[in-house]
Amino acid sequence: MSSAIVRNATRQAARASRVVRAPTAARSLSMVARATAVQSKPHQVTLSQARGMKTMDFAGTKEVVYERSDWPVEKLQEYFKNDTLAMIGYGSQGHGQALNARDNGLKVIIGVRKDGASWKEAIEDGWVPGETLFPIEEAIKKGTIIMNLLSDAAQSATWPDIAPLITKGKTLYFAHGFSVVFKEDTKVVPPKDVDVILVAPKGSGRTVRTLFKEGRGINSSIAVWQDVTGKAKEKAVGLGVAVGSGYLYETTFEKEVYSDLYGERGVLMGGIQGMFKAQYEVLRANGHSPSEAFNETVEEATQSLFPLIGQYGMDYMYAACSTTARRGALDWAPIFEAANKPVFEKLYESVKNGTETRKSLEFNNRKTYRQDLERELKEINDQEIWRAGKTVRALRPDAKRDD
Ligand SMILES: NC(=O)c1ccc[n+]([C@@H]2O[C@H](COP(=O)([O-])OP(=O)(O)OC[C@H]3O[C@@H](n4cnc5c(N)ncnc54)[C@H](OP(=O)(O)O)[C@@H]3O)[C@@H](O)[C@H]2O)c1
Repeated sequence: MSSAIVRNATRQAARASRVVRAPTAARSLSMVARATAVQSKPHQVTLSQARGMKTMDFAGTKEVVYERSDWPVEKLQEYFKNDTLAMIGYGSQGHGQALNARDNGLKVIIGVRKDGASWKEAIEDGWVPGETLFPIEEAIKKGTIIMNLLSDAAQSATWPDIAPLITKGKTLYFAHGFSVVFKEDTKVVPPKDVDVILVAPKGSGRTVRTLFKEGRGINSSIAVWQDVTGKAKEKAVGLGVAVGSGYLYETTFEKEVYSDLYGERGVLMGGIQGMFKAQYEVLRANGHSPSEAFNETVEEATQSLFPLIGQYGMDYMYAACSTTARRGALDWAPIFEAANKPVFEKLYESVKNGTETRKSLEFNNRKTYRQDLERELKEINDQEIWRAGKTVRALRPDAKRDD
């Protein structure tokens, strides 16, 4: 055993001992009882239900939430009985949403480039050329609900060919506000005589499918850009359920795209990589080993503490750690907040003024975008922090692969 591995094992043991110190009262409760105890005491959840929707109190603000239980499969099938859902694009979202809608008994066809990667994948999933799988333009002609799930860059590139086919009476559906909100850059301006709606799942298309198969549903945002028939919102809710959502939160196209571009550049992806790397590098510069720096930065976060935040909230995670850890974290949280806030403000502005959209379109429309992205991701993969992470992960009891 190398010294790094020994150190790693020691750190893991230390970590385990730190985290089991849950609050005394909560420690003896089962997980379910604990969840109930944590939720019901300080944060009372109140809701009033009208037919087809709930008004819920989110930290003092009332918001409307639509739910799957109001759209049983029979109602979905009846509501969309005269519709053909044309899923344009069969990437991450297209695949998940199309399979879920098909399993819900709706008439779904796929439209993708003939003989591209998606075409082949669709055949593997049971879509049949000439019956349920068509080139893009043919699928749009056959569909009544045109679900534009091409990549955002492709939505813009293909729009001049697609737009004339979206004729009166059809519904145009997106999973992101990107194309229509930033129309000056994308040139995507929907025809005036069709409903334009959005269902944006808050997760990858793979998760949309997995949760559906488990009998659960993903949270999604819904919005209406254009309501010609007076039924646009109702359609958005029904389609949201059809493609695998459990709860649907009402928003606007603008709010959806601003929050989405902001979140993924911030805490969800860009921010977390920046924060992990900065912490790791300072530990390394102060003589800590790679395993120690990784365990104290990423492994403990993802394997131990972040899941506690996800299940019960930040205060619960704090309470599950030592009083030493709690004191220090309480002192340093506002310092990090103050340091980061200007960066988040700059980021939001960059999203809102379209800078992020223009960069994304410019990059993702390059012929070499796949290779360019792969090269940059490989650079991350080659960073010492993530190379150290591979060895740490390989030591997990359930380690299955080493990428
Ligand atoms: N992924 C997510 O987590 C997520 C979550 C919520 C919402 N959304 C939104 O859902 C939409 C689809 O995203 P996605 O991640 O599923 O996209 P994706 O995986 O990147 O899908 C790409 C699809 O676009 C097609 N395509 C790419 N370039 C094309 C071109 N020039 N001409 C024709 N087809 C082209 C691909 O077909 P080929 O195989 O033929 O290249 C493929 O079917 C986007 O609006 C996205 O913002 C995504």
